[in-house]
Amino acid sequence: MAGCGGGGGGESGDVIAAVNGAAHDAGGISADGLALPRGIHASFSADPRSTRTLTWFTDTGSDPGSMVEYGPVTPDMDVEAVQGAPFPARTDGTVDPVHGVDALTHRVTASGLDPALPVRYRVGAPGAWSSVRVLPAAPAAPDRFRFCHFGDSGVTAPAGWVRDGVMTVQPDFVIIAGDLSYADGDQPVWDEWFQQMQPLMATVPVMASPGNHENKDANGRGYLSRTTHFEPPGARGWYSFDYGRMHFVASTGGAFAADLRLPAEILWLEQDLARAALRRAAGEIDFIVFFNHFTIWTDQEGRSPNDPLLVVLLEQILLRYGVDLVVVGHDHIYQRSHKMAYGRPAENGYVQITQGAGGKSMRGFDPISEWSASAERRYSFCEYDVEPERVMLRTWAVDDTANERAGGLELIDELSIGLRNLVFRNRAAASPRGSAELLPDIEAIRRNTLARNRRDCPADGHTHR
Ligand SMILES: [Fe+2]
Ligand SMILES: [Fe+2]
Repeated sequence: MAGCGGGGGGESGDVIAAVNGAAHDAGGISADGLALPRGIHASFSADPRSTRTLTWFTDTGSDPGSMVEYGPVTPDMDVEAVQGAPFPARTDGTVDPVHGVDALTHRVTASGLDPALPVRYRVGAPGAWSSVRVLPAAPAAPDRFRFCHFGDSGVTAPAGWVRDGVMTVQPDFVIIAGDLSYADGDQPVWDEWFQQMQPLMATVPVMASPGNHENKDANGRGYLSRTTHFEPPGARGWYSFDYGRMHFVASTGGAFAADLRLPAEILWLEQDLARAALRRAAGEIDFIVFFNHFTIWTDQEGRSPNDPLLVVLLEQILLRYGVDLVVVGHDHIYQRSHKMAYGRPAENGYVQITQGAGGKSMRGFDPISEWSASAERRYSFCEYDVEPERVMLRTWAVDDTANERAGGLELIDELSIGLRNLVFRNRAAASPRGSAELLPDIEAIRRNTLARNRRDCPADGHTHR
């Protein structure tokens, strides 16, 4: 299963694997008495071809500095050169307190990267550098790339299987669709989770959306103080970006409804999707992908048939602009729909891919609905191979049918999705609506969202799903 991702194969791929395999950062204090990096993770907060953003943590509250040193990995470099050669570039970043613990979050964006070459880097400060790691080059052909998706991770053994499975397929980036650490207010759990995920997240950019367990964590303050993504004006946890000819929209799904910004997000979403649909009709992009934590429709036991809030508030927006893929988590199952709308198969609908089988726990099913095309009770992740006018979805289980660790990956679902026809694309290029049409009763919407968040995540902490 050779990856088409930027990790690359051949000698250079072996060198990169050796460098990344040897890297280890767990914080602590350096010989110079400075706090060392831990929980290093990469993401995009600007142009994905020419920048990478690094985020990490240090303890003690005393700031050692926020720097990244970086440069290209050229084909002539061996392991020693990648690890030890002087870095041609250094950039400074920012530092902020981590919510809830005596630690600092450091953020730096490395820019001016050559898209054709992998990026070697280390973070920290003089006297307190991290190990050197390598991030993949941008895809050689910008419109051919691979991303992976899972949600509902947690600090568990199966979350480690999923992490390792994703690394073997060498994606260009990863989406985590909410419920990352399950810290639920116990802040050190975030640190454990980032340590568990560091081998993946420090070597592949990861883009996340918040879930109900991020809400439970001080209404997202834990999550937002530890992650770095794009930041549209006024946003709190929502953003969008293009990768190749695909437009990605990350939504909170109302996870942070208590901050009263849900109406602003809905109005932003309408504008963003209207623009994306217009660009698709004009031939600038091929696909629109929406990701958030919450399923719209589900057959998970106890949660079927739907999230009424999202059916009322969100589904009609996604359908109006012809969103192609709805990428979610929340339900601790794998379930993939036919093209659907309002709980029925529909040719002009979206495909919802629920991948809440990322490690936290595994749930069962209520009777399977007519819209469902695949439903599996397996720890797994999704891989999407994108090419011009086509997306190939493959879902890989990392366990056996008894949910014990498997030696390799087992293909449990597969789907090829093509470009929408011209009539559809033109019709979906509709004008964005304003608050009078979108939010006729925002107070009711807010009440229902808060009730859902309470129901999905009661304050006693006994619900881990
Ligand atoms: Fe959830
Ligand atoms: Fe969950």
